[in-house]
Amino acid sequence: MKKFLKSLWILVGALAGVAAAWRLISRRQALPCPAWLGWLVENPLMESGAGRTLDKVDLHPGMRVLDYGSGPGRLTLPAAQRVGPGGEVTAFDMQPAMLSRVQERTSAAGIPNIRLLLGSAGSGSLEQDYYDRALLVTVLGEIPDRQEALDEIFAALKPGGLLSISELLPDPHFQPKATVRRLTTRAGFDELDCTGRPWSYTLLLRKPAAAA
Ligand SMILES: C[S@@+](CC[C@H](N)C(=O)[O-])C[C@H]1O[C@@H](n2cnc3c(N)ncnc32)[C@H](O)[C@@H]1O
Repeated sequence: MKKFLKSLWILVGALAGVAAAWRLISRRQALPCPAWLGWLVENPLMESGAGRTLDKVDLHPGMRVLDYGSGPGRLTLPAAQRVGPGGEVTAFDMQPAMLSRVQERTSAAGIPNIRLLLGSAGSGSLEQDYYDRALLVTVLGEIPDRQEALDEIFAALKPGGLLSISELLPDPHFQPKATVRRLTTRAGFDELDCTGRPWSYTLLLRKPAAAA
């Protein structure tokens, strides 16, 4: 038992070391979660959290949803099921391998209303005033210019549209609540709700109805 606990602590320490090194390197150069580490989000534990995240954004049939930094589609697929065939979910990601995984899963599940959009944050590839909802789940810290990304999401949402941002430790790119609040306020969002703990939280924000 003692030997097991010692090995466990060594493993936890090693993982914390890798996360800290990754975070440090990311400050100098963007290091997004590589596609071969997609299993870190595509696993039963993380998949079960997707439903709870979606519950908070009040999805209805017919809505258009933007999954910004979709990864392998952990939220994309259940969101598409919730908005139904009259709605649409855009999986937006900079890594072709992530979008290929979304495509594989979409085809296997027979979900027709998912659009794949390859692009980098701030590249101007999103429609304006188009989306009812946007999801930004464990992505923000991977983006070099976070303000530009939030400005882009603000422009892509319809007036009155909602943005849900989730951050979770031990993600090496974790962003504290105060930082996210500062950036989202500057982009023009109003905060509606905040749930969770300082180390695992979801912020719900709204683009003001009067915003042009
Ligand atoms: C940790 S994964 C999270 C995936 C998904 N949101 C989830 O929670 O399961 C982060 C994703 O954001 C994408 N990403 C990171 N930086 C990006 C950027 N600048 N533009 C577009 N996508 C980006 C990465 O390619 C990766 O697929």
